[in-house]
Amino acid sequence: MYNCGMKVLFAVWELSPFIKVGGLGDVARTLPKALHDLGVDIRVVIPYYRAVRTGGQRRVFVTKLIVTYGGRRVQIKVWKIKFLDADIPVYLLENRKYLSVPGKETWGVYDLAIAEMVKWGVDDWKPEIVHSNDNHCGFIPLICKEWKLPVKHLFTIHALLHQRRVPERQVEKMGLDLKKCHVMRWETKNKRVVSLLEGVVYADLVNTVSQTYAREILTEEYGAGLDDILRTQHPGKIFGILNGIDYNFNDPRINKLAKNYDAENVTEGKKINKSYLQKKLGFKQDAKMPLIGFVGRLDQHQKGIDLIHKMLLRIDLKKWQFVILGEGQVEWEEKFKLLASFYPKNIAYLDKYTDELAIRLYAGTDLVLIPSRFEPCCLVQMIAMKYGAIPVARATGGLLDTIKDEMNGFLFEKASSHELEKTLKKANDMRVKYPGKFTEMVKEAMNRDFSWKKSAQQYLEVYKKLVQ
Ligand code: GLC
Repeated sequence: MYNCGMKVLFAVWELSPFIKVGGLGDVARTLPKALHDLGVDIRVVIPYYRAVRTGGQRRVFVTKLIVTYGGRRVQIKVWKIKFLDADIPVYLLENRKYLSVPGKETWGVYDLAIAEMVKWGVDDWKPEIVHSNDNHCGFIPLICKEWKLPVKHLFTIHALLHQRRVPERQVEKMGLDLKKCHVMRWETKNKRVVSLLEGVVYADLVNTVSQTYAREILTEEYGAGLDDILRTQHPGKIFGILNGIDYNFNDPRINKLAKNYDAENVTEGKKINKSYLQKKLGFKQDAKMPLIGFVGRLDQHQKGIDLIHKMLLRIDLKKWQFVILGEGQVEWEEKFKLLASFYPKNIAYLDKYTDELAIRLYAGTDLVLIPSRFEPCCLVQMIAMKYGAIPVARATGGLLDTIKDEMNGFLFEKASSHELEKTLKKANDMRVKYPGKFTEMVKEAMNRDFSWKKSAQQYLEVYKKLVQ
């Protein structure tokens, strides 16, 4: 089964469908599966939050780990479940005080627990590689190096902005020597250590989730204050591997929809799904009316939802229908709620995200907006394309690597509501005035392959490089 024999522990803080916060939860579900299919013995480990839902699966008790934190022995129970659709062990780390609700000290204890798993093995199994994700796992490489554990580290950055600044006291509680930490001068004053940075510095290799973003983070504009240090890492240490999506899950031929369709009968398929969505949203059922979607976290800094909001206040809403789906910053949830209550026939705001709802939205909309200020990868454009909803997006990060302007989407450069509006209108003009050309774009989008196949192969090559 595991023909390449590689043993990889995939450490992450969310894992769909057991617990999902954002795109990382989806990646954690789909990437290990793709690597498993390539013969990697990959296992996933997450904290056992109270909110974890195992979907009725029976959990199996594996072992107890003892972690020393703040001079005290902290006991952690390790449970095991399996991926719903693959034979991949998922370890759940249970400790009521530290791991049941994400808190300030959760990650110190979690990172130590991972190192203990590496040291002693779990389930008669020891990883050769720890594949860590984001700031939550920032101290794993350093701890393992300090403990001289024979394991290699790949560190993946999904979110550079969330760096997690940890008080020095907490680092000491983890038993780490502060002198080993790469404390930045201006952080010394705050007496804080940047978790994400420790991950980057001490991991053997580091990647982000698209090639463009891997280049962008070396610049001041996108480096979130870390660019100077990122540039000092040895050449080739930081690179990009594009995320993928799972077509077993995202497929308009099989999902529960008003009408199933593929690229061949997309015109009819989308027409029926659009009409259904319009009805559900309380909009006029009109095929000519442009129906535009947004799916994502309502996060102003990254997702540029303020640009959408500003545009909505300006344009002639009678000519458009918009549906916004996503939770996020309360202030923005309120703003969209208010706007939708003023214009219920033209704007709908849905604050309870579910994958099923998102799929209905992709299937029913003509265009989706992704005006991100920065975007490590984003899955929305890839999923939208599969449903023939054309992305209108900012030319940045993973959006730039997946969208070809006027071939399968529309791109704009400047993060401004005017640029967004101009590009949206251009896209809609094409839909209305050149329906033949627009349908060609839709088909091209639907036929693009964003499966994990290629990217999982690239991860496998990286793993091989690490252990050779
Ligand atoms: C984060 C990033 C997003 C990426 C996802 C999974 O949510 O913002 O761009 O697609 O992680 O890697």
